[in-house]
Amino acid sequence: MDVRIDGYRVTNPLNFQGRDVSMSIFNAYAPLIHLGAIESIAAELHLDLLNIAAEPYAVARSIEVEDMLDFSAIFIDIGGGTTDIAVVRNGGLEGTKMFALGGRAFTKRLARESGMSFEEAEKLKVNYSLGKLDQETSTALHEFFREDCRVWQGGVELSLAEFSDTDLLPTKIFLCGGGSGLPGVREALLSDEWASRLPFSKTPQVSFLQPHDIVRITDETGVLSNPQDITPMGLANLAVHLSSEEKSLAGMLRRAMETVQKQ
Ligand SMILES: Nc1ncnc2c1ncn2[C@@H]1O[C@H](COP(=O)(O)OP(=O)(O)OP(=O)(O)O)[C@@H](O)[C@H]1O
Ligand SMILES: [Mg+2]
Repeated sequence: MDVRIDGYRVTNPLNFQGRDVSMSIFNAYAPLIHLGAIESIAAELHLDLLNIAAEPYAVARSIEVEDMLDFSAIFIDIGGGTTDIAVVRNGGLEGTKMFALGGRAFTKRLARESGMSFEEAEKLKVNYSLGKLDQETSTALHEFFREDCRVWQGGVELSLAEFSDTDLLPTKIFLCGGGSGLPGVREALLSDEWASRLPFSKTPQVSFLQPHDIVRITDETGVLSNPQDITPMGLANLAVHLSSEEKSLAGMLRRAMETVQKQ
């Protein structure tokens, strides 16, 4: 994630001179049973399993700017079942956090409290998010989801608190995942009261990742427009990127590990 020579960050240490080289590595762990499940799905689909990546890692690496060493941001992917958070500081992924609250919980509560089926409630929620409902119903749903969004906001706050021991938090927040479509989600992150409880240097800017933000992937079909599409696009980028990057970095890491093992 991060390579330094005598404390200075470099994108590639080859041909630099110095005394100390430090490399930080991002590891993700999964239970063996999940690994087995992925392997059998791939086998049954007659696909070769080339690599397994953590989704928040893919999302955090899906955008690139000119000066990556200056790039800090918080990525929040709100799916159906979970919210994944990745914190990037100075171009390096510092860590990820996940909590089990996503779009499905909002639909479930709407179904429970209104007596609708899950499918009906889901349709109503999505139509509300897309601005397709009349003013009165919209206002009522906005009110209805307020408490759910507040609970979700609390989850984000707790997750981010773990990244704020050492340093201020990045003020750029990028949202993706289907669940981010609910209007109250972005609103919750824009509230001054929430931001004041965390060490932000200024009010956070909250925006949605767009398909054209994702490096190395171009959607020629024009059908990818939903925040839901961003996570798979990020994974696709990682697959393309890994196949080109692997050789030099893997070689470097291997040599570094050999040196460590010898000592
Ligand atoms: N326009 C929308 N407004 C609000 N919610 C939406 C919208 N579109 C999709 N969703 C919600 O997004 C969720 C699915 O998002 P996504 O496809 O990102 O999840 P997932 O990746 O399958 O789940 P997870 O990341 O938890 O494994 C569903 O709960 C759905 O209700
Ligand atoms: Mg997801």
